Amino acid sequence: MNIQTTHSADASTVEEALAADNQGAVVDSEGATALAMQNTLLTPRFYTTDFDEMDAIDVSPVREDWDKLIGQMKADPNKGHFKKNEDWDHVDWEGMEPALKREFIDFLVSSCTAEFSGCVLYKEMKRRGSNDDIVTLFQLMARDEARHAGFINDALREAGVSVNLGFLTQKKKYTYFRPKFIYYATYLSEKIGYARYITIFRHLEENPQHRFHPIFKWFREWCNDEFSHGEAFALLMKTDPKLTSGRNVWWIKFFLTAVYGTMYVRDHQRPEFHKALGVDPDWYAYEVFKKTSDISKQVFPITLDIDHPRWQPTLERLQRANVDLAAAEKKTGLARIWGKAGGSARAALAFIGLFTIPVKRHTVPVQTRLEPAY
Ligand SMILES: [Fe+2]
Ligand SMILES: [Fe+2]
Repeated sequence: MNIQTTHSADASTVEEALAADNQGAVVDSEGATALAMQNTLLTPRFYTTDFDEMDAIDVSPVREDWDKLIGQMKADPNKGHFKKNEDWDHVDWEGMEPALKREFIDFLVSSCTAEFSGCVLYKEMKRRGSNDDIVTLFQLMARDEARHAGFINDALREAGVSVNLGFLTQKKKYTYFRPKFIYYATYLSEKIGYARYITIFRHLEENPQHRFHPIFKWFREWCNDEFSHGEAFALLMKTDPKLTSGRNVWWIKFFLTAVYGTMYVRDHQRPEFHKALGVDPDWYAYEVFKKTSDISKQVFPITLDIDHPRWQPTLERLQRANVDLAAAEKKTGLARIWGKAGGSARAALAFIGLFTIPVKRHTVPVQTRLEPAY
């Protein structure tokens, strides 16, 4: 069977997208792939889970919403979108400030890895499953993520680098998460992904002078894909009320805190990137947290209190601890050991500080489905 297509953007399935000719050309990928291979608390990971347990999900309790969502995804409004066209401006990579270039490539590599991490997990669920509802959903989501990753790689290739996705699939370490943790983590990463992309898109609509790369023009359709993926996980969680009640609410709080904290620390590692976008990273974090919290009320009975007086100062302590930890990594001998121990302890204390802030509780609506509203 010949499943070669010209571009991942035009592919109808994940297999076609990964076999597309734009996926094949790997340019000087060592640096970028090495970056994508990193497994730290702050870098995107690859996940594996109990696929049989996920395959056993019965979506009957949410059938009506489910069929509507799958129908929308099958209609595939973004087919053909994720490739360069006449709106793609020339990028002066040579003339870009070195610090900005470094941070922007880091941003693209990390985004590409995160997109591909979703692709790998969803594709594997599709491959292992036999439940038609589940297999269909995961095939559609894997298709989208393969297009997203392929498009970022197109952008990277102009800078003379790209992430070797085939190599990553085989060699990157996989972290095991129980299905319920996959739901919390993936639901949140899809919804926070939506909030991040749409916040940048709207900001650049108002301030087009800060659009220093054409990829940002693609963010609106992009974030709509992520929004639908998040909707699917919301419906999956709705099939079993236990997932969002009782002791599991503590797990939801844990994942909310971890996802928000990680985003804050990671974004603050890229000051030049945010300066070029004309975005204050503290403002951006607050905007993204607010949107994600509002959306996540569709399924989570709690939200983090991001207006609590301890929230912002504790986030800043977490961030400073991570800066010192990274500095200690570069030292040698006792300075390194003490620096790392001190930094880790302060980061852990800051995380506990965030985790002990009382949450806001609310009633989850009967109707789960939302449409992108920002
Ligand atoms: Fe994506
Ligand atoms: Fe997604």
